[in-house]
Amino acid sequence: MQPMINVALPKGRLGEKVLAILESAGYPCPAIHDPGRRLIFENEESGVRYFWVKPSDVAIYVERGAADVGVVGKDILLEYRPDVYELLDLHMGKCRMCVAGPKTFRDDPEKTLRVATKFPHIARDYYAGRSREIDIIKLNGSIELAPILGLSDVIVDIVETGATLRENDLDALETIVPISARLIANKSSYQFQTEAIRAMGDAVAQQVAQREEKEK
Ligand code: PRP
Repeated sequence: MQPMINVALPKGRLGEKVLAILESAGYPCPAIHDPGRRLIFENEESGVRYFWVKPSDVAIYVERGAADVGVVGKDILLEYRPDVYELLDLHMGKCRMCVAGPKTFRDDPEKTLRVATKFPHIARDYYAGRSREIDIIKLNGSIELAPILGLSDVIVDIVETGATLRENDLDALETIVPISARLIANKSSYQFQTEAIRAMGDAVAQQVAQREEKEK
């Protein structure tokens, strides 16, 4: 019998969408639609075992081999650089990593720029590339508060609809990188289950392309 593919799904709206794609790609799992508090669901017939994890933990499960594949935002891959294979851009969960600040912000190159963020590596890399001296203020959420209260000059954060910035009188000043969800694989799983994981990646890619075609 083929070994099961363990799939770490990010809890939330994106994960639900990804599950729908996986199911239509040939990896259905009726058990996952039963309400309850179970976290692991399998379907021997389609050779798949799903589990829901916190979105920011998906890469940890995959890197350490507790999951063979998973779905994670490009922001997490750029920030934590997990040692995994990035198989596919799912063209979902699209947003961008931006520098944002008050509408009145003017950069003074004489001063160290104070940058509040949940993504210190991304911010550091970005400003290192511009030889701009910065002071990182690492926060864990509600980043938009920092420039409003004078804790920082700007923020580096995810902008999706732009509503949070607008409602707090902040502007996106620069786009650092576009972000979307990616299908990732554990490196040794990929080595030992190459065919099965590739087949899953191909089937998902096909579904993604079909959905994009329909949305046009
Ligand atoms: C994210 C991000 C922004 C917001 C952007 O926050 O950090 O605050 O979403 O989305 P928008 O452009 O559609 O308004 P999240 O909801 O993850 O909460 P957080 O404050 O804990 O970072």
